[in-house]
Amino acid sequence: MNAPIDISRVVLQTDRLLLRCWRETDLHDFYAYARVDGVGQPADWPPHKSLADTKAILDTFIKEKTTFALEHRGHVIGSLGIEEYRRENFPELEPLASRALGYALSKDYWGQGLMPEAVRAVTDYLFRVQKLDFLLLGHFVWNHQSARVAEKCGFRYSKTCTHVNQHGKTEATRQNILCRPGLERVSW
Ligand SMILES: CC(C)(COP(=O)(O)OP(=O)(O)OC[C@H]1O[C@@H](n2cnc3c(N)ncnc32)[C@H](O)[C@@H]1OP(=O)(O)O)[C@@H](O)C(=O)NCCC(=O)NCCS
Repeated sequence: MNAPIDISRVVLQTDRLLLRCWRETDLHDFYAYARVDGVGQPADWPPHKSLADTKAILDTFIKEKTTFALEHRGHVIGSLGIEEYRRENFPELEPLASRALGYALSKDYWGQGLMPEAVRAVTDYLFRVQKLDFLLLGHFVWNHQSARVAEKCGFRYSKTCTHVNQHGKTEATRQNILCRPGLERVSW
C-alpha cells in the first residue's frame, strides 16, 4: 500500500544539498531548469512553456507536501518526489508500507552525483524515520541516467511494467526496488 507522507516539517541536509519543501519564491529557479529541453521528458512531463505552467506545478507541490525541492548554493536545482506507486503492478506489496521516488535535476548539474546524494538522504529518512518497508524507482527502459541513479543507490531490478506516457503511447518501464535494511531477513 502507499504509506501516508507529509514532508512539510522535514529538512534533510547532505554534503551539497538542502532538501526542503517547495516555496512560492522558488518559481523562477524551477522555471529556469524545467523549461530546458530534455529535463522533463524522461520523467514523462513536457518542458514548461511559461511561468504559468511552472506555477501550476509548483502550487501542486506546495499543496501535496510530498515533493522535496533540492537547494544547492541558495538556488533550487531539482525536485525529488515521494510518489504513489501503481498498486496494480505490485499486489505483493499490498500489506507493506511503500512509495515510489521520482526526480529531475537541472541539466547544468548532471553528472556530479547530486541526485544519488539526494536519493540516499531520502531513502534513509523514509526507512529510518518513517519506517517504510519498500521503495520503488521506475524509469523508461531507455533512461540509462536514471538507471544509474537506481544502481548507485542500491535498488535492484524487480520487473518491467507498462505505462501510458503523456502522448498516449504505451512504454515499458523498468521497476527497481529497495527494501528497508533488515527487512530482507524476515518473511513477507
Ligand atoms: C536522472 C538524473 C536525475 C541523474 O542525476 P545526476 O545527478 O546527473 O546523476 P549522476 O551524476 O549519478 O549521473 C547518472 C548518469 O548520468 C549519465 N550522465 C552524466 N552526465 C551526463 C550528461 N551531461 N548528459 C547525459 N548523461 C549524463 C552518466 O551515465 C551517469 O552515470 P555514471 O556516473 O555511471 O557515469 C538526471 O540525469 C535528470 O534529471 N534526468 C532527466 C530527468 C529524469 O530522467 N528523471 C528520472 C525519471 S525516472
